[in-house]
Amino acid sequence: MKVIVLGTAAGGGFPQWNCACATCRDPELEPRSQDGLAISADGNNWYLVNASPDLRAQILATPELRAGPGVRETPIRGVLLTDAELDHTLGLLLLREAETLTVHAPPAVLNALSRFRDITDRYHAWTWSAVPDELDGITIKTLAVSDKQPRYADDPAPGPWVIAYRFEHHGRSLVYAPCVAQLPEGFAQFAAGAAYVLLDGTFYSNDEMPGQTVMGHLPIATAVQQVDRPLAFTHLNNTNPVIDPASPERAVIEKHGHFVPADGTRWQI
Ligand code: MLT
Ligand code: MN
Ligand code: ZN
Repeated sequence: MKVIVLGTAAGGGFPQWNCACATCRDPELEPRSQDGLAISADGNNWYLVNASPDLRAQILATPELRAGPGVRETPIRGVLLTDAELDHTLGLLLLREAETLTVHAPPAVLNALSRFRDITDRYHAWTWSAVPDELDGITIKTLAVSDKQPRYADDPAPGPWVIAYRFEHHGRSLVYAPCVAQLPEGFAQFAAGAAYVLLDGTFYSNDEMPGQTVMGHLPIATAVQQVDRPLAFTHLNNTNPVIDPASPERAVIEKHGHFVPADGTRWQI
């Protein structure tokens, strides 16, 4: 299975357009686009996992995802969503030129996205459906992570609103959990034996930003105490010191085998 880490920043990206903090203004730091992946069993048919507002730039920067081989063909077959947050879904609207597309997500997420669908239906009738157990040879397992609704979904509705994925192919697997307030029950088993576990790295500590706790993101410093295996962190907020490779926080996590992949990281697993 091939995995491409398309983006690794939290909502707003890094640097964030309306933030002039020291990290966002540091010209030495590599920009990071908003969190998402592409996965493929065969290297020809690709599935996006989350669709960030940076999706067009991410596709153009990724030769595997560029249009072809036919004039109107694309290797992108569908989209899987972990949640309905705008930083994981606005990219759907950027795919509006697609004549066919399948969007897979939990029912509550699909329901919230009916607002998007009202728009996209005017262009092309895409398929919106539950997350399948298998897709082009990739076995898909999900774990309900939380019931945190996006702010725009104003009618409280039963979840799960956020899920984690485990993708398996030929006995090798990847776990992707970019949005977790606390590790859900069963997470250790869900992640057992995975080649990579990509985990929510929004914050390093629990006091990085006012109002942080209601945002519901497990800080890296806590996660590394709770998970006894190397972790890859994504969905980094611009307040997170690990964005700076020279930070002491980055040195601490790397000393324990954890890491922070750059945009464009490729894994063959
Ligand atoms: C989050 O990750 O908490 C959300 O994306 C925040 C937001 O965009 O409102
Ligand atoms: Mn987010
Ligand atoms: Zn900033």
